[in-house]
Amino acid sequence: MGVVLIDEAHQVGATTRAETILRAEALRKSFRSGSQEITPLEGIDLSIERGELIAVVGPSGAGKSTLLHLLAALDTPTNGEVYFGAKLLRSLAEVELAEYRNRAVGFVWQRHHLLPDFTAAENVAMPMLVQGQALSTALRVAGDWLAEVGLAGRAGQRAGELSGGEQQRVAIARALVNGPEILLADEPTGDLDERSAEAIFELIQRLHRTHHLTSILATHNLSLAKRTDRVLALEHGKLAPSAEVPAGAAGRAARSAGIGVRTPGERG
Ligand SMILES: Nc1ncnc2c1ncn2[C@@H]1O[C@H](COP(=O)(O)OP(=O)(O)OP(=O)(O)O)[C@@H](O)[C@H]1O
Ligand SMILES: [Mg+2]
Repeated sequence: MGVVLIDEAHQVGATTRAETILRAEALRKSFRSGSQEITPLEGIDLSIERGELIAVVGPSGAGKSTLLHLLAALDTPTNGEVYFGAKLLRSLAEVELAEYRNRAVGFVWQRHHLLPDFTAAENVAMPMLVQGQALSTALRVAGDWLAEVGLAGRAGQRAGELSGGEQQRVAIARALVNGPEILLADEPTGDLDERSAEAIFELIQRLHRTHHLTSILATHNLSLAKRTDRVLALEHGKLAPSAEVPAGAAGRAARSAGIGVRTPGERG
């Protein structure tokens, strides 16, 4: 049994009651490759409040991407459940699940999966086109989003010609173009130099605030992680209990980076 890291009932501010937007219950994921079974997630219990900005840390292979994929309904758990508010994802019809993936959640992939031969605007517009929006509308909204992520004037440039940091901005704009409530970003600052990583992190912080998002970032960057509201450390298939510092490499790294454990009510 894992640990619920935050008290669902605790008060945010004087009057607002916390609202759990995402919840994982005894989440387990196994992969079979040949005769071998790999179980990156052994049992995750997790409760995320609307408005939180959370970092998921852990060594490579710890299951950060796997966890984000399960939360986004891009993959299904072997056991356990994910709830979006009161909705149990496993109980949703395919059309409702598609709605959840396309509208409720914005996903930034670990390798951003842009279409290199399409323009920045076409890449950002893609989720709107999937929703059945007219091309002209989608491209106009995409242009606004590109401006918002600092790429005004680059709408017509092929994605493959942009720098790594610029491509990451396009991927973030694409994740947000359908107005999701939740942003899941898988190593959004990976493969970037320190300055670009800082700029992307600040961009996500700003978008998180201005668009009232609930955001979860998987990251190896512990100094950025400790600037979020809460750090979840994945190790050996579990989340490190909130009352303890994790024991292994992630824990040592977290300790040396000054990542402490936040108590309910203590927010960034
Ligand atoms: N589709 C799959 N089939 C088989 N094994 C998989 C699959 N996806 C993930 N795994 C395995 O599950 C484990 C966790 O992978 P995951 O990508 O979630 O780790 P991660 O924490 O995101 O690592 P990184 O920091 O390197 O991105 C790894 O051992 C990986 O090989
Ligand atoms: Mg990963």
